[in-house]
Amino acid sequence: MSSNYNNKVMNELWNEIAPGYYNYGRISPDADVDKIKDLKQANEDMVQWIINKLGINKDSHVLDLACGKGMYTVRIAETTGCRYTGVDLNTTYLENECKVWANKLGVNEQGEFVLGSITDLPPEVKEKKYTHIICLGAMYYVHDKIDLFLENVANCSNKDTKIFIWDFVTNVDWSLCSELNIHLKMKFPIRPKIDVFQRFENSKLELTEYSDFTKYIIPGYKVMERECKKRDPELKKLTYPLMGKAFMNGTLSFVYYILRLQ
Ligand SMILES: C[S@@+](CC[C@H](N)C(=O)[O-])C[C@H]1O[C@@H](n2cnc3c(N)ncnc32)[C@H](O)[C@@H]1O
Repeated sequence: MSSNYNNKVMNELWNEIAPGYYNYGRISPDADVDKIKDLKQANEDMVQWIINKLGINKDSHVLDLACGKGMYTVRIAETTGCRYTGVDLNTTYLENECKVWANKLGVNEQGEFVLGSITDLPPEVKEKKYTHIICLGAMYYVHDKIDLFLENVANCSNKDTKIFIWDFVTNVDWSLCSELNIHLKMKFPIRPKIDVFQRFENSKLELTEYSDFTKYIIPGYKVMERECKKRDPELKKLTYPLMGKAFMNGTLSFVYYILRLQ
């Protein structure tokens, strides 16, 4: 996994601009980024977008794979009253962020946060079926084990489960992504769309919707670049703008998939 998650400077930046989240949310491509001071509202808008898109309500049980600091789960639970299960590999996030947010927003009794890998889910997670499974900005971390990931997702699904994956795909050969990888520090390539589609075909899941979300992410990267430059003018430690550049020049796309059990 990327060492960026242990990077104090990057964590401090996120805590200032979008505490509890680890994503860019959703911003209209026409928005005036000079008027957007941080990524809090963009993430809140994404929470609402996900709830509406997936029809999450108080009877839902949402499984959040690679939940990060847990804020998506916590806000979805707070807004809808649903149950939730969040899984992540990072104990510090689970203990110091997820559980703290859940307590603060009064949803701690609606669910739990569990330490585990999304390619080898703990038995207590895998033995249940969920109405919704979300994986936001994290599947690329297991593109080398994507079949195992999809197998785990299928195991937690029944025929009514809605699966929402928000992820990156490359549009060029990985050998041309070295600048981007200064930030990402991946030890294996991020897959192109055609390759991910092929993996879905080979899985127990069926793709029902696909969309390129990049245009809603680019404004967030512009906000991020401005905030990085304020704190680190030469961008020696804050390398997020390399990701923004890759989105803007078409090297990388931010996409979502909606799947169901076949
Ligand atoms: C970019 S963050 C996204 C977090 C969250 N989904 C969000 O949108 O705010 C990626 C997360 O993936 C987690 N992660 C990476 N590989 C994982 C794995 N194999 N199993 C579980 N979590 C993993 C990291 O610990 C990190 O919290």
